[in-house]
Order: sequence, then C-alpha cells, then structure tokens
Amino acid sequence: MTFLKGAALSLLIATFSGTALASDDPIDSRKKLMLSTGGAAGAAVAMIRGDVPFNPAIANSVFATMNAVAHTYGDYFPEGSMSDDSEASPKIWEDMAGFQSELTKFQEAAGAAIAAKPQDLDAFKAAFGQIGGSCKSCHEGYRIEKQ
Ligand code: HEC
Repeated sequence: MTFLKGAALSLLIATFSGTALASDDPIDSRKKLMLSTGGAAGAAVAMIRGDVPFNPAIANSVFATMNAVAHTYGDYFPEGSMSDDSEASPKIWEDMAGFQSELTKFQEAAGAAIAAKPQDLDAFKAAFGQIGGSCKSCHEGYRIEKQ
C-alpha cells in the first residue's frame, strides 16, 4: 500500500512535467511549469507531514522536477507576453536581471538538494527548506496573486 502511494505520487509528478512540455504558448507553458513545481511541492509536504513515508526516490523526483523548471522557466517570458490572464508581475520585464537572479537562486537550491541526496526526513526537510526560500523570494517580487 505504502509503496503504491509513493509510486502514484511519482507518476503524478512525471505526468505534470510531461504536460508542461506540450504547449507552444509561453503563458500556458510557464503556468504549467509552475503547476508542476506546485505538484512536486505537494509531494514534499505529504512526506513532511507524514501522509506519505519518506522515500528517497520521491525526494529525488521532487528535486529533479524543480531543477528542470528552474533551468527552463526563464525561457517563457518573451517581450510582450505579459497578460491579464497571468500572475506574472510586470516587474519581470522591467527588471529582467533581478528576475534572472531569482532563477539562479532557485537553480542553485535545487542543484544543492539533488547533490545532498537526502536519505532521511530531516535531511530532506533541510534541503527542501532551501528551495522553499527561493520560491517565496521570487513570488514576493515577481508574482501578483490575483484571486
Ligand atoms: C524565478 C521566480 C519563481 C520561482 C523561483 C518560483 N516561482 Fe512559482 N511562480 C512565479 C511566477 C512569475 C508565477 C505566476 C506565473 C503566471 O501566472 O504566469 C508563479 C506561479 C506559481 C504557482 C501558480 C501556478 C498557476 O498557474 O496556478 C505555483 C503553484 C507556484 N508558482 C509554485 C512554486 C513553487 C512550489 C516554487 C518553488 C519550488 C516556485 N513556484 C518558485 C515565479 C517563481
């Protein structure tokens, strides 16, 4: 049962990442990429809360999803792709260098988490906490929550 839950979660993450690559529209693509990080974060939180037992393979796929997004997300903000239908702040285009530096922090945190290869929940929490800080920092500066 436990194994099945873990497998289902990995599959969920894989499905999310797969969908993310299927669109030509930059707005749609970047939303799907962020949704895939949201899905991966959900799997991480499930392990931290104890809903799913810690599993190093899930930990690795969480980090791998985030790392892939960190390295591709910046490609989906061409000039003129600001939209009312998006939570991407105009600040991204006004301060592209600052946005890129948030992306670099995200890449570094995800890369460090992969390298750390956590084998227990405490190590996982520490590695995931670093990434979480980079999510928050970029959202504060470059995302407008609309609802
Ligand atoms: C470099 C900046 C940046 C980083 C780092 C970042 N985000 Fe985001 N995130 C954004 C922006 C910008 C949006 C709004 C995108 C849009 O609506 O076009 C967003 C939107 C989201 C959404 C909403 C997606 C939707 O369409 O409903 C989720 C969920 C999310 N981020 C999760 C995360 C998580 C989890 C992390 C860290 C693992 C993270 N983000 C890291 C910039 C970032």
